[in-house]
Amino acid sequence: MKSMTLSLTINGALRHCEVASSTVLADVLRDTFGLQGCKVACDQGVCGACTVLVDGEPVAACATFAFVVDGRSIMTVEGLAQNGVLHAVQTSFLENSAFQCGFCTSGMILSIVALLRAHPEPDEETIRDWLGGNVCRCTGYGPIVEAVRRVIPAHALEHA
Ligand code: FES
Ligand code: FES
Repeated sequence: MKSMTLSLTINGALRHCEVASSTVLADVLRDTFGLQGCKVACDQGVCGACTVLVDGEPVAACATFAFVVDGRSIMTVEGLAQNGVLHAVQTSFLENSAFQCGFCTSGMILSIVALLRAHPEPDEETIRDWLGGNVCRCTGYGPIVEAVRRVIPAHALEHA
């Protein structure tokens, strides 16, 4: 099987790895770099558990060949906290009990980070539409929507 060397910026650090042409991004993140916050559930690109940001856009890492993201910037949930301080979305998830088993949580949070960049003050319909690709089996989505709504004022101030 053909292999190739990739250069990826992962959570702000330039990293290199050797992959087969069939290797998916989720396996690179989890197995090569130990970033197991990228969860794999369906492994078919439909549940959103493996969502990471590629150049700021949410991507299903289980359904993305690693070579496709060569040279690009990837953020996983491990890269969100800065200097030991959780991202505002992570804090809001904790304060609003927006997770139970937690399997969807890292993908959900990264999708919300992208949502707030695209729509700094989303209404509930926009939040629910945006998160349509992130499945949660536990919460019924209400606490997740509430966590987004409560982080909006702080986020809007940050970006004022
Ligand atoms: S594990 Fe990737 S979309 Fe479900
Ligand atoms: S918290 Fe369990 S799947 Fe969302």
